[in-house]
Amino acid sequence: MSDLLLLGIETTCDETAAAVVRRRADGSGEIVSNVVLSQIDEHAAYGGVVPEIAARAHVEVTDRVIDEALKAAGIELRQLDGIAAAGGPGLIGGVIVGLTTAKALALATGKPLIAVNHLEAHALTARLTDGVGFPYLLLLVSGGHTQLVCVSGVGAYRRLGGTIDDAIGEAFDKTAKMLGLPYPGGPEVEKAAERGDATRFALPRPLMGRHEPDFSLSGLKTAVRLEALKIAPLSEQDVCDLCASFQAAIVDIVADRVRAAMRVMREIGQKPTALVLAGGVGANQAVRRMLHKVAAEGGTRLAVPPPALCTDNGAMIAWAGAERLALGERDGLDIPPRARWPL
Ligand code: KG4
Ligand code: ZN
Repeated sequence: MSDLLLLGIETTCDETAAAVVRRRADGSGEIVSNVVLSQIDEHAAYGGVVPEIAARAHVEVTDRVIDEALKAAGIELRQLDGIAAAGGPGLIGGVIVGLTTAKALALATGKPLIAVNHLEAHALTARLTDGVGFPYLLLLVSGGHTQLVCVSGVGAYRRLGGTIDDAIGEAFDKTAKMLGLPYPGGPEVEKAAERGDATRFALPRPLMGRHEPDFSLSGLKTAVRLEALKIAPLSEQDVCDLCASFQAAIVDIVADRVRAAMRVMREIGQKPTALVLAGGVGANQAVRRMLHKVAAEGGTRLAVPPPALCTDNGAMIAWAGAERLALGERDGLDIPPRARWPL
């Protein structure tokens, strides 16, 4: 089989992104261009993503972002082998914009269309950036999702556990909002935590020690709120200490839950080639440091894409599209956009 050159379009949340990725015949990959336009400024005033604003912003810029990605790659549409777009899960207005654009391009050029599951794209990114082989243990931690998954092939995903309430990214974002930090909250909490005392507040670590690798974050979030109310009005140092204590709790929880998932992998007879960290929270350095240790303890290694490829981007969509196309898969123009689409 020859090399595959894919365009990838991502519009499921608040980033409009497009990229061109090459998948070589030997299974390795290369990002040829990667353009991400964030809508953060448009949503910041509301402290979170407003779906209607997001959809309108995607309509306005998707064509331009695709043009930029093609231009930066020095590629014309006719040179592509396929066109991939995130077909969900996500905010439906945005998904419709990206997927419909991809359908139009596929129809006009006669190229194969691949509707990619956004979660699968996060899951497969480490194969592009680190050449990770199957099977691996995936910790997917983003604004909308927190899951531990055994990945034993493209399309072969077994969910080992996940959150029973909030996603970890959501807990970061809500904590930030509570403490008066700007949106998106994850990076702000991390920054504030660097100047804080992680031992000042004793926060709960729900579900730690459980056999099933599940998560529960809402109790932790509430505990932060109660501590903040007790000492209000908050000084800058109070905010830093609360962020540090919160992040320390998250790091402990993640470490314990990943250890539990590694035990389950052993029980089901799967020996992971790597622990893969994916999704926006994967950009967090404290989480990364801990997971390096946890992976080593478990006799494996941590593979984590660079921060810009942990958060939403078009390269991960193009890559997942290429992996599917390499297996001979493609989608019809009638494939529907999906707000929900479990792995
Ligand atoms: O994967 P992503 O870009 O979008 C979704 O598909 O959700 O993840 C965004 C999430 C947000 O909740 C954001 O606050 C969080 O990832 N995040 C972080 C960091 N950078 C982004 N959380 C903790 N520490 C960070 N450095
Ligand atoms: Zn995402």
